[in-house]
Amino acid sequence: MTRNILITGAAGFIGSNFAHYFSNKYPEYKLIILDKLTYAGNIHNLDKIIDKITFVQGDICDFDLVMKIFKEYDINGVIHFAAESHVDNSIKTPFIFTQTNVMGTHTLLEVAKQVWGEGSENKFVHISTDEVYGTLGEEGYFTETTRINPNSPYSASKAGSDLIARAYFETFKMNVNITNCSNNYGPYQHHEKLIPHMISLALNNKKLPVYGDGRNIRDWLYVEDHCKAIDLVFHNGVKGERYNIGGHNEKRNIEIVKLILKRLGKSEDLIEYVTDRKGHDYRYAIDPTKIKEQLGWEPETKFEDGIIKTIDWYMENQEYLDI
Ligand SMILES: NC(=O)c1ccc[n+]([C@@H]2O[C@H](COP(=O)([O-])OP(=O)(O)OC[C@H]3O[C@@H](n4cnc5c(N)ncnc54)[C@H](O)[C@@H]3O)[C@@H](O)[C@H]2O)c1
Repeated sequence: MTRNILITGAAGFIGSNFAHYFSNKYPEYKLIILDKLTYAGNIHNLDKIIDKITFVQGDICDFDLVMKIFKEYDINGVIHFAAESHVDNSIKTPFIFTQTNVMGTHTLLEVAKQVWGEGSENKFVHISTDEVYGTLGEEGYFTETTRINPNSPYSASKAGSDLIARAYFETFKMNVNITNCSNNYGPYQHHEKLIPHMISLALNNKKLPVYGDGRNIRDWLYVEDHCKAIDLVFHNGVKGERYNIGGHNEKRNIEIVKLILKRLGKSEDLIEYVTDRKGHDYRYAIDPTKIKEQLGWEPETKFEDGIIKTIDWYMENQEYLDI
């Protein structure tokens, strides 16, 4: 079967890494990318593969446009990354999160259902986050059966989109998978996010603001390892299943900041502790047993190597920094 795959949000961080990975691994697939190019989207993230893909600038909430794309390109698979993704923005301007993340996801699913039909075997992978599970204390891990318990407008909107996706499997028997991953790091990330943001400030010799006491824990996943997991889910994921994806790399935020300063040869005196983020989740940690056992996925990049590779990439591609 010819694979004509719609990838949404592939001008952003994870989507662009995925589009590179996928177009190199499966040159026979036709990749159609739909991205609104919000402040977070950057068409240059796709420069290296622009001749191999079809790019459409537009909104996933635009039902008529999504319908037109499905019909024109005979779409028979969807990998859905497009989202408003920054927690701090969701505290300041929450409505756009509900609009894009919930209504946009719903629009894609409804078009898929109308074009493919109920019970279709065509795959729809919905990319979500571990933040839908809320927060952990010092112990325990998120599994696929952990209660959905989001705390920020961002994670609540992602939880809403997960539930719509789940409902399209339960009600219409669509071939949906949901993936919930931990914090990704790697090339092509917008400089609003922790790692490129801190590198930018350090290079400018500005203070590096660290929320609260900096002891919050995130579970870091190298973006290419994430792409490999999505590849497995797209091809082999069991209809209707949710898969957690995480690298077992728990780090405190302050550790990441200190690592960056060390690599750049800057003093820890640049660190400034600031008032904590509202509703700041303490700890995220993924239990990836299911995807390992069912689909044979293993993260390959050690955090110690991945973080150095990432910092060095931003140093070599400083147009991605805010300097
Ligand atoms: N970055 C992470 O660490 C992380 C962790 C867990 C889950 N996720 C999820 O992974 C997905 C990708 O995250 P990211 O970090 O690459 O995000 P990003 O912000 O870097 O990219 C999002 C992309 O979506 C596009 N977009 C936004 N609204 C759109 C709309 N209405 N229509 C079409 N395109 C639109 C943007 O232009 C951008 O290119 C998101 O669904 C996010 O929730 C990310």
